[in-house]
Amino acid sequence: MKRPTAQAHEEVAAVLRPGDVAVDATAGNGHDTCFLAGRVGPAGRVVAFDIQPEALAATRQRLGEAGLADRVELFEESHAAMARRVAPGVGAVMFNLGYLPGGDHGLITRTQETLAALESAAGLLRSGGVLTVVCYPGHSGGDEEAAAVVGWARGRGGEVFPQARDGAPFLVVLRRACA
Ligand SMILES: C[S@@+](CC[C@H](N)C(=O)[O-])C[C@H]1O[C@@H](n2cnc3c(N)ncnc32)[C@H](O)[C@@H]1O
Repeated sequence: MKRPTAQAHEEVAAVLRPGDVAVDATAGNGHDTCFLAGRVGPAGRVVAFDIQPEALAATRQRLGEAGLADRVELFEESHAAMARRVAPGVGAVMFNLGYLPGGDHGLITRTQETLAALESAAGLLRSGGVLTVVCYPGHSGGDEEAAAVVGWARGRGGEVFPQARDGAPFLVVLRRACA
């Protein structure tokens, strides 16, 4: 079975077009930010959020090495601020929940803030746009958060991908119908 992060990239790649605006709600080590920056091309723009300066430094370095930094704006802010920073019409929003790999495992995404940010993100999608959420039920707090995300997505017609095993990470996808 494919990793949920790879499944998320496939979902986004199917939708994102050169020139689009995309959002990385949890920049972390910058893998998703770099992926989005590659897909939107030189005419597109990526807006990325993280609350940890270490995460943004890692993302900045990865973007620099890939020659993609010029099309990305990084904000050391919670994704709760998304609607203040990004206008509607976004092609894709990616969330990769939990903690920063290699960082402080106590600094995790929190259920109520995640749900509020998901609601904002869904409202920013353009027609045909996609929102992906990789959930990590295996750590303390992650199980409750993952269940809340599943409930939120199911209430909006989203898709919950199967888990490889109990406690394994999994992908949730919300697609905005084409107008
Ligand atoms: C699993 S990592 C993300 C991995 C990243 N997408 C990548 O490709 O490397 C989760 C990140 O979410 C960040 N985070 C936690 N709460 C946040 C919030 N309220 N707003 C934005 N980022 C947050 C953490 O600091 C951490 O870096």
